[in-house]
Amino acid sequence: MSGHKETGPGLPPYFNISPDKAMADLPPSVGTADLARIAGACTAGRNDLAARGLDETGARRLRPFSTWEITRYLIPVAPAHFRRVLRQNPDLPQGISETDGGAKWFTLDEVLRLRAHFGQEGSKAKEYLPYRPAGLPAKVVAVANFKGGVGKTSTCAHLAMSAALDGYRVLVIDLDSQGSMTSIFGGRPADEWDTVFPLLARHYATHLRAENQRRLDRGETPLPLDDTLTDALEVQAGDVIHKTHWPNIDLIGAQLNLYWSEFQIPVWRMNARGWKLWDALSEALEQGGVLDQYDLIFLDTPPALGYLTINGLAAADILLVPVGASFVEFDSTGRFFDMLHATFSSIEEGENIAARALGRPELSFAWDAVQAVITRFDAAQQAEMANLMQTYMGGTLSPYRQDFTALIGQAGESVNGIYEADYRDFNRDTYARGRATFDETYAAFKRLLVGIWRREERAAQDVAAQ
Ligand SMILES: Nc1ncnc2c1ncn2[C@@H]1O[C@H](COP(=O)(O)OP(=O)(O)OP(=O)(O)O)[C@@H](O)[C@H]1O
Ligand SMILES: [Mg+2]
Repeated sequence: MSGHKETGPGLPPYFNISPDKAMADLPPSVGTADLARIAGACTAGRNDLAARGLDETGARRLRPFSTWEITRYLIPVAPAHFRRVLRQNPDLPQGISETDGGAKWFTLDEVLRLRAHFGQEGSKAKEYLPYRPAGLPAKVVAVANFKGGVGKTSTCAHLAMSAALDGYRVLVIDLDSQGSMTSIFGGRPADEWDTVFPLLARHYATHLRAENQRRLDRGETPLPLDDTLTDALEVQAGDVIHKTHWPNIDLIGAQLNLYWSEFQIPVWRMNARGWKLWDALSEALEQGGVLDQYDLIFLDTPPALGYLTINGLAAADILLVPVGASFVEFDSTGRFFDMLHATFSSIEEGENIAARALGRPELSFAWDAVQAVITRFDAAQQAEMANLMQTYMGGTLSPYRQDFTALIGQAGESVNGIYEADYRDFNRDTYARGRATFDETYAAFKRLLVGIWRREERAAQDVAAQ
């Protein structure tokens, strides 16, 4: 490109572009088939990149964790005590050292076993096991904003990993057909049948079957169940949940075909106006027993307020809205809340006309918490903007700001984010600062979570006491 300098010295590059030269340099025009060629080239490159993060067996592997890291970040215990407990309990994982007498390294699976041991045997005054009231369902957390590139996937993936490192059992559901979250967790769905799609289809098919029974009872012709719907009736949540290279993070992945749902869902809804499309995902999670198998379920959503996002938001207990401290992102986030209001209030109105007529309880959506979070924050440039946003958004905007950190981009192609990176690859201070910003993001989230769970635990105790 720079070979064609047509401007004189000192002139900006957009002056004096010769139309004839520009014409000579033009690439051939693009037809539909070329789009396939471009896509093919990208896929080949992507597979090459992805393959570099894979081990010989083709599976992604999580790095080990050192004694320093475990005692500094994961299990609140002094290194000397940690070593003593290991010596006294030869059955516990002892770690592997790379050199004689060198630091001991443990897999995350081993860390989880050690955590369980300390939780059982150690001082009750220490938080060896994260707070999790018994008998309550998993909390569903959606990370959403219809503005693209605001840090939804980064925030969601880091939260899932922090929660897993903290000892929670995590399920990640990717609702974005771009599949970024899926790549991070090494998922490779072959088609839409290995995504949430069949769970949504199953919800609709179940509704249709019940509706058809009512039609038959009234002497009307039943609506046909096509092959897709019949097949979907056989799919269970467990069929699309996969293990990842993180022992306590499971995944329902996404893939380009998931986008088909955005066309299919409105068609289903037109066929059966009584189908509550917004309930599909939450009921699939409830009925599949999924809410009892995990502590936290994180939903990553696409940069759009489509049917998948609506399903995700309706299923969520906690909604996190990442937003950068810039005018465009603040502006667009305001409109996102506007759209959320319009969407959910129109669903409520539609339902409640009938509910009121029939004397049934009215539908009203509610979230335990809705919190906007400033992401990619640059204190030197954005403090004024962030303060202004704080003034206007008040408690809806978390006072904690997630700093911009070069560590995210630097972590390399085979690892995803700060928690998968080996701290020895970085200057210790850079690592500590980068890690601190996502630890703080997690801490702010965990504060909400713990408060909400505590409120529910207290309410359940009050009911039991009466
Ligand atoms: N705290 C951070 N510091 C530095 N870079 C960040 C940070 N958070 C996110 N990024 C970078 O910003 C870009 C967009 O982030 P991300 O993919 O998480 O956004 P998104 O909202 O999920 O995007 P999309 O709307 O396409 O789904 C990525 O390149 C990511 O690495
Ligand atoms: Mg994303």
